[in-house]
This record gives sequence, structure tokens and C-alpha cells, in this order.
Amino acid sequence: MKLQVNLGANSYPITIGYNALNNIKETINVNRKIAIITDTGVPKKWVDLLANQCPNHFVLTFEQGEQSKCFDTYKSLLEQCIEHKMSRKDAVIAIGGGVVGDLSGFVAASYMRGIDFYNIPTTILSQVDSSVGGKVAIDMGTYKNIVGAFWQPKAVIIDPQVLSTLSIRQQHNGLFEALKMGLILDAELFEYFEQDTLDIEKIIQKSIDLKRQVVEQDEKESSLRKILNFGHTIGHAIESNAGLNTYLHGECVSMGMLFFIEDPALKERVLKAYEKLEAPKVPDYDVQTILDFIAHDKKTAGATTTVVKVPSLGKYTLEEYTVDQLREVLERGPYEK
Ligand SMILES: NC(=O)c1ccc[n+]([C@@H]2O[C@H](COP(=O)([O-])OP(=O)(O)OC[C@H]3O[C@@H](n4cnc5c(N)ncnc54)[C@H](O)[C@@H]3O)[C@@H](O)[C@H]2O)c1
Ligand SMILES: [Zn+2]
Repeated sequence: MKLQVNLGANSYPITIGYNALNNIKETINVNRKIAIITDTGVPKKWVDLLANQCPNHFVLTFEQGEQSKCFDTYKSLLEQCIEHKMSRKDAVIAIGGGVVGDLSGFVAASYMRGIDFYNIPTTILSQVDSSVGGKVAIDMGTYKNIVGAFWQPKAVIIDPQVLSTLSIRQQHNGLFEALKMGLILDAELFEYFEQDTLDIEKIIQKSIDLKRQVVEQDEKESSLRKILNFGHTIGHAIESNAGLNTYLHGECVSMGMLFFIEDPALKERVLKAYEKLEAPKVPDYDVQTILDFIAHDKKTAGATTTVVKVPSLGKYTLEEYTVDQLREVLERGPYEK
């Protein structure tokens, strides 16, 4: 299956299918120097499968984990591109999850003012969300994604076969972001999560197609793209409050969404779906601490925070909330009807 992201001169194809990784030449010109960027958690067999199709490649591998999405790794990757004498006509291929994609994309965006970038996402989270849209970035200190660029890939190759090595917890983690897309935009996608067995490929196709449509309408996140932050305002704060390595990002998004689902019957259905995905329960929290994290997350001063709410399945509203309104939401808690 092929989708096309239509962004004028920055348009690109998304190929989705089993074994798509076995035949990358269809979409990528490999007759040039290729920097393959990956991390230590991506099984070697996937990297080899890619590397064997690139006659003139080198592989750059950094330590897995969000803490690698930093300036030091970024600098080291750029230095290695220089050492390998990468030219403006050469290309970067990312093979890994969102960390690899965000970091490699930023390397490609800035090396010689921008070279070709290809993304081969290998986690569900990156296959349903981060690989499309061109947001590339690194973290600085406690600020996530604070330095980066918009740099669209030249093509994205999504191959569900690579998910066979991904842990169940990581699979569920990505599925929460897909479920999010269903809640705000597409009842049918949400209903896939209510079936006895999950059709992962169908979920990936539908989610990434929705992401494509949102990005096409708002490439630089000036308006519509904000809806993808559903569940993230409180979710991020819970994530930061718990400290790294407690919850995964998607798990925190699953928690954050509960605060803004306005229809009690829908919330029941969502909680049922969460059981199947083994979503962790929202931990006890101190309201003021969470509010402080939300303020920190906003990065800029300003009285209000944009929140995304779901009044009914497949619908969203955007609203500006004052600190007092957020406090009220937090005091009410995630499970109240
Ligand atoms: N650019 C965007 O629009 C966007 C959107 C959402 C999230 N993100 C970013 O994505 C990152 C999170 O991405 P993630 O959830 O993919 O995490 P991740 O990249 O850290 O991957 C999770 C773990 O799985 C391992 N892994 C990857 N592929 C594997 C495979 N096929 N088999 C076994 N293990 C595998 C990785 O090595 C890593 O340890 C965050 O940094 C977040 O900010 C970006
Ligand atoms: Zn997210």
C-alpha cells in the first residue's frame, strides 16, 4: 500500500507493507553514500537487511534511550558524517524508533544545510505517528524537543515485519497514540481497538493516513496539528513527574486523555480498550506539582494553555484553559464521570 503526503515541493510517499524493507530500491536511490543511523536496541537483523541493499554505506549506532536524543549525540553524528566525507548529494536513512528518527532527521536537516532523509520506523509509535510530519529535534536539559527543525523525509517505509522483535509493552505504547487518533478523528479506528484481536496493520495504515491528512493541512503546526497533542498536556506532566524510565510516553498519553473525554459512556469504552492494552493506572499526584510541570512544558510565558477535548467519539474541541481551570480538572481526577 502506498500513500502520498502532499506538501508541494516537499511531498513524499509512504510505503506500508510486509517485507517493504526487503526492497528499498523501489523508493530510495542507493547509488550514493548512505549514512544509516540506528541505536543499540534495534535488532541487528533489521539493520543488516537494510545495509545489504546499500552498496556504499556506513552505519552509525548510538546508545538506545531518550537520553541519547541530546546535543552530544547530535554533534558526534555530524562529526562522523564529516569524517565519512558525506556530500550534499548523499543521504541519511534512519532505522529505529522515534528517538532515531528525530535525531537522524535533525542531522540530515542541518548537515550542509540539509541533505536527503529517509525514515524506516521500527516501533509502533514511530510507524503510527512520528515518522510522518517532518518534526525533527533533540532535547536540551529538561526541555523536550526544544531544538530542531521541520525537515520532511524523502520517503517513509513502514514494514510491520520489524515489529516481531518489539516487546509487547512497546507495542502497546505505540498503540495508545493510534487510539488517540481514533478518539479525536475517526470512530472506525477507535472501533478497531474494540475487536477481539487487534489488526495491527490496519491500525497502522489508518493512523498514519490520518496523520498525513493533518500534516497536509498544517505542515508547521500553526493550527490543526495541535489536536495531536490530545492527552499530552497532563500526560507529559505525569511523565516528567514520574521521572525517566517509569512510564513510557504512550502510557502517559493514555492517562492524560482520560481527563478530557467528556462523554462518560465513551470513557467507559476507552477504559475497556485500555485493559486489553494493559494501560497503567494513573498514579496519585500532587496537583500543584503537575501544574508546575505543565507550566514548564509550555516553555513560554502566557496565561492559558491550549487543551484538546473529546466531546464524543471522533470529535475534538480546542480550548484555552487558565491555571485555575486546569487545577479543577486535576482535582476532579481522571476516573470521575
Ligand atoms: N517527530 C514527531 O512528530 C514525534 C511524534 C511523537 C514522538 N516523537 C518522539 O519519538 C520518541 C519516542 O519514540 P519510540 O517510542 O519509538 O521510542 P524509541 O525510539 O526509544 O524506541 C523504543 C525502544 O525500542 C527499541 N526498538 C526500536 N525498534 C525495535 C524493534 N523493531 N525491535 C525491538 N526493539 C526495537 C529501541 O532501541 C528503543 O530501545 C520520543 O523522543 C518522542 O519525542 C516524535
Ligand atoms: Zn505523543
